[in-house]
Amino acid sequence: MKWVSIGFNRWYRILHPRPVVIVVSGRGMDDYSCMAASWITPVSRNPPILAVAVARSRYTYEKIVESSEFNVCILGVEYVDKIDYLGSVSGRDVADKITASGLTKVRARRTRPPIIAESIAVAECRLREIVSAGDHDLVIGEVLEVYVKEGYRPGSISEYPIPLHVGGDLYAKPCSIQSNSLK
Ligand SMILES: Cc1cc2nc3c(=O)[nH]c(=O)nc-3n(C[C@H](O)[C@H](O)[C@H](O)COP(=O)(O)O)c2cc1C
Repeated sequence: MKWVSIGFNRWYRILHPRPVVIVVSGRGMDDYSCMAASWITPVSRNPPILAVAVARSRYTYEKIVESSEFNVCILGVEYVDKIDYLGSVSGRDVADKITASGLTKVRARRTRPPIIAESIAVAECRLREIVSAGDHDLVIGEVLEVYVKEGYRPGSISEYPIPLHVGGDLYAKPCSIQSNSLK
């Protein structure tokens, strides 16, 4: 087996494909921005905490700093065009991005920014901490509420595939593989 260096231009692509979500933040239903984010991960089971790497240039980053609240919305693969749109235009240029994308904004349960009605799963978060990390900051949020569309079992990827971001405008669908490890 021969190894080939790929350089640092797109080094992080070795960690893709990754699930992509929409992060929505702001002080209200009409004062918010949202963005696609695939650099997201759970970091604690109990208490429930997640972290998302957000570039400081994002309008959504400003909204997170301002409001200390954000929602994570998970859409199905049928919405990749909308996801791509929300990840390509800025709330600085397009007001009310969710409506502009053709998706539906509705009130969250505990936080002020909206959520996306078409989501199959939602996590409402309160900002705990922002950790500076290179050209992105790690936004760490405590999950206050988590809910899914009735009938959705997290992990039931054949019925509800969630999109994975490969890179650029390319996405993938997950497929299940049963491991045969000798546990
Ligand atoms: C699939 C996809 C995933 C993305 N993941 C991230 C991410 O994890 N962190 C980030 O800062 N930007 C990410 N982006 C870029 C932002 O979504 C994009 O810059 C967005 O337009 C910012 O909008 P805003 O200025 O309204 O916040 C991603 C874009 C796409 C299309």
